[in-house]
Amino acid sequence: MTDDIARARDLLDHATSVAVLTGAGISAESGIPTFRDALTGLWENFRPEELATPEAFEANPKLVWDWYAWRREIVAKAVPNEGHRALAELERQCREHEVDFTLVTQNVDGLHREAGSHRVVELHGNIRRVKCFGQHHPVEIWPEGDGVPACPRCGSLLRPDVVWFGEMLPSDELAAALAAARTCDVFLCVGTSAVVEPAASLPFMALQAGARVIEVNPRPTPLTPSASVSLHGTAAHLLPLIIGIAQ
Ligand code: APR
Repeated sequence: MTDDIARARDLLDHATSVAVLTGAGISAESGIPTFRDALTGLWENFRPEELATPEAFEANPKLVWDWYAWRREIVAKAVPNEGHRALAELERQCREHEVDFTLVTQNVDGLHREAGSHRVVELHGNIRRVKCFGQHHPVEIWPEGDGVPACPRCGSLLRPDVVWFGEMLPSDELAAALAAARTCDVFLCVGTSAVVEPAASLPFMALQAGARVIEVNPRPTPLTPSASVSLHGTAAHLLPLIIGIAQ
């Protein structure tokens, strides 16, 4: 393990362009259940397609709104962990040495920015933001009550500004993520099951373009066999060691 950490550190030290992809695993140690773990307790009888699709919202907007309200409360109480902070430090080190840096996240919790990361591409939106279902009008303030609030501009129901299954990703964010994957020479993949497209393809695109891939995950994923360095452990433990801010 120590050798692998040193190899990961060495790859980052010699990089000219770094791309990072994070998934739900990096926020697990901030107390935010991963997407699949979130379907427990009150929600254990639901499947993702019953809660995180436009069709689910049209069929039962209150159910979907309530699930996101519950998740929004968890996110509001959460604080960034050592893993988020280590990636903010990696960005700072890259800036200092004029190395390109892009952090792409599938997470909707906003914790990377809270930890001090600047160049963050939020591929799946942000749960703290709300927009209307009909016209995508952004809405800053909405009444908390029993029903699903409506858009003050067009009257359509409000929904979280996240990407649901079957929806297009925001085009600017997707373009930035693809560009980072294609041009980096080191790709660091943290806490993602690497199965949900198109994010899952990003490390493979980087590999095809000649980049070396470092993976941090307690469990093996479809990416593991292709990674140059695969570190099995948690993000909050391993990232500070790789970035060199813990021993
Ligand atoms: N540190 C690092 N990785 C961890 C940790 C941890 N402390 N805890 C769990 N993991 C890993 C798991 O082993 C798993 O591989 O994080 C991954 C979480 O996987 P998912 O729940 O599938 O999350 P993610 O890959 O982000 O899902 C992608 O799918 O559900 C949709 O839109 C949702 O953005 C989400 C997308």
